[in-house]
Amino acid sequence: SDNPLVDLYGRRHTYLRLSLTERCNLRCQYCMPAEGVKLTEKNKLLTTDEVLKIAELFVKEGVNKIRLTGANLKRIEGLEIVAMTTNGLVLTRQLVALQKAGLDILNVSLDTLIPEKYERITRRKGWQKVMMGIDLAAQLGYHPVKVNCVVMKDFNDDEIVNFVELTKDKNIDVRFIEYMPFTGNRWEVDKLVPYKCMVDKIRAAYPDFYALDNGPNDTSKGWKVPTYRGQVGFITSMTEHFCGSCNRLRITADGNLKVCLFGNSEVSLRDAIRSDCSEDDLRTLIGAAVRRKKKQHAGMLNISRMENRPMILIDTLKPLS
Ligand code: GTP
Ligand code: 5AD
Ligand code: SF4
Repeated sequence: SDNPLVDLYGRRHTYLRLSLTERCNLRCQYCMPAEGVKLTEKNKLLTTDEVLKIAELFVKEGVNKIRLTGANLKRIEGLEIVAMTTNGLVLTRQLVALQKAGLDILNVSLDTLIPEKYERITRRKGWQKVMMGIDLAAQLGYHPVKVNCVVMKDFNDDEIVNFVELTKDKNIDVRFIEYMPFTGNRWEVDKLVPYKCMVDKIRAAYPDFYALDNGPNDTSKGWKVPTYRGQVGFITSMTEHFCGSCNRLRITADGNLKVCLFGNSEVSLRDAIRSDCSEDDLRTLIGAAVRRKKKQHAGMLNISRMENRPMILIDTLKPLS
């Protein structure tokens, strides 16, 4: 194929994840090393113009969904969905403006329903603010707000049923995420709570909890308590990876194209753009990187020992400032 976004396994990459910043007002333990990370110098981060240029190029080549932490992308013709993943700290202040700017879908990270535990895991205060933001978004949005919960043994695995209760009346879907290793996050196999165990726990409380059909590129396996309004999802990167249907590419805040969350072969689109190369050269560069994408990266054996950027330098969740 001459489409640079199709890889050797025929996967079409229609979903681009753009990270606009490396800064975060939390310090989540599973996301960043205790000593923090070295931030990229400002002049090495993509400028707004560069972000737009890259976004435009990818949309031209077939991307129709972009997830990010904020920018005025909605004017690009051909882009259908703008989604954001955020830690939710300033949602109550920003939500109306974000919706006006064209935000379609919102995912918010919240790993515990107990304020003291929130302070422990994020090393910061803010649980009430996040919860208020989620409630407001659930009231304003047409789509359910997705609450992302990274499940860690002996930290929040006792709260799974309480999280399911969030789906009872509110316009909220909850997604339980298997804890993944990244450089410096002190992941251990003992802290992983496998998909199957989570389902067993929920089934014990709701015997008629049942599996839904999923979309072709979903990272999440959907389930539901029959009488409840929202859905429950499981993101099973460790025990049942979904690389075969992956449609995602990522751009890091410092301008690298990352063809897989776990792949560490990266190529700098920033340097290419700054060296004034033509759009065709960019297509070639992107195409070559996409064709280097492996059949699968995720799954226990592959990633548990692999060097990778800490999550904070891949998918930062800071809100817009
Ligand atoms: P939508 O499907 O658009 O709702 O987004 P998402 O669920 O992929 O995005 P979100 O930012 O909410 O990420 C939630 C979790 O999904 C992350 O913690 C990852 O575990 C997982 N995830 C997102 N993208 C990938 C990917 O490319 N590969 C793998 N293995 N996991 C991913
Ligand atoms: N394992 C699983 N999920 C993680 N996230 C951040 N670090 C990890 C990890 N080590 C989640 C965040 C956010 C999403 C983008 O990724 O909680 O919701
Ligand atoms: Fe926590 Fe997200 Fe910030 Fe990482 S980017 S420290 S997961 S809020």
